[in-house]
Amino acid sequence: MPPSRLAIAIGFFLSDIIIRTSMRVAVFASGGGSNFQAIVDAQKSGYAAIEVVLCVTNNAEAGVLQRAAREGIDSIVISSTSYSRAGEFARELLNALDECGIELIALAGYMKKIPAAIIQKFPGRILNIHPALLPEFGGKGMYGHHVHEAVLRSGTDRTGATVHVVDQGYDTGRIVLQREIPVLPDDTPETLAARVLDVEHQLYPDAINMVLLNEFSS
Ligand code: GRF
Repeated sequence: MPPSRLAIAIGFFLSDIIIRTSMRVAVFASGGGSNFQAIVDAQKSGYAAIEVVLCVTNNAEAGVLQRAAREGIDSIVISSTSYSRAGEFARELLNALDECGIELIALAGYMKKIPAAIIQKFPGRILNIHPALLPEFGGKGMYGHHVHEAVLRSGTDRTGATVHVVDQGYDTGRIVLQREIPVLPDDTPETLAARVLDVEHQLYPDAINMVLLNEFSS
């Protein structure tokens, strides 16, 4: 049976939305890149209308580089230590982002502070994921196992993950989305980190979708 005119119209309508909301994304990561993978998988399954076109790292040994290569996504290693002036590091990053037409940056375990020039160029368009319920257990020095150790030391019975907009502070930008999980009596930093990471992999694509929705409905 030939498709009805209504079905064709709906098809055009949906493809128009998908084309208009497909955002070019750069993921910045310094480590294994499981969140990079979760974001790429959300694109591949059609869950998020994004196109991850660049992986940026400061660490030539980062596992995320292998993931990017496997996915056929361009990657670039830019280490701040190779530049004597902070401005040169920022310029190098900006050039790479410009060349790829990046519209949204997702920090996923990126261990360097983002230069102010980049925050100004991408207002509200740089996201970060943090493995705790900000504003608790955030700030300078609160990364990786330090976060989960502090959570356990505090005796709290809940933790989780947060996606927030990046500003010039440490973990201080506007919160986009959070998800909570219980801290279990026999949790160790390692078991907690693993359970929070599972949450992160769902949360990041959800938060990106929220940013896309706001962007195209305003
Ligand atoms: C995640 O726990 C994230 O919250 C933090 O760094 C870790 C990165 O893990 N910012 P992965 O490299 O994505 O596996």
